[in-house]
Amino acid sequence: MANVRAAVFASGTGSNFQAIAACPDLACDVALLVCDRPGAGVIDLAKKLGVPAFVINRDDFVSKTDFEKAILRELEVYKIDWVFLAGYMRLIGSVLLDEWEGRIVNIHPSLLPAFPGKDGIGDAFRAGAAETGVTIHYVDSGMDTGEIIAQEKVPILPEDTEVTLKQRIQQVEHRLYPE
Ligand code: GRF
Repeated sequence: MANVRAAVFASGTGSNFQAIAACPDLACDVALLVCDRPGAGVIDLAKKLGVPAFVINRDDFVSKTDFEKAILRELEVYKIDWVFLAGYMRLIGSVLLDEWEGRIVNIHPSLLPAFPGKDGIGDAFRAGAAETGVTIHYVDSGMDTGEIIAQEKVPILPEDTEVTLKQRIQQVEHRLYPE
């Protein structure tokens, strides 16, 4: 049977993309990067790892519907089975969800349902929480609200800065997401 084919959606530096795509014993093939930010660091990483990159700019489309239809077509061209969001800073809309719900997974840097949203690390840090963590979850129409697949705690140490906390969270992310 052919291997399961995954697309990773990422908009940023792509350290999670790299952890997934370079994982030697990943249970699927990373067949495509979808990046919605031309110039993002993750595009170079994809090039180095030999993963085709589909770079798409929301500003080139009149509506979110048209934007997502273009992504949908690309997922079909590459015969993708699963989508993994890794720092894709955009809510998935109804065009993609109608077709893909149940096969889209996200990683979020907090112990959901605590601290959803764009700055899960900073929000936990500023709240003075004793611990935070990493959540892997299915994607639904909400902001970081889908069914949880896996979670791992990360303590917030008295000597932590936001930078050191982020480093320790990302160490966990880079192991947990490929798993
Ligand atoms: C990660 O912390 C992930 O949890 C969040 O966005 C960040 C992406 O980082 N959704 P990177 O681009 O993979 O380094």
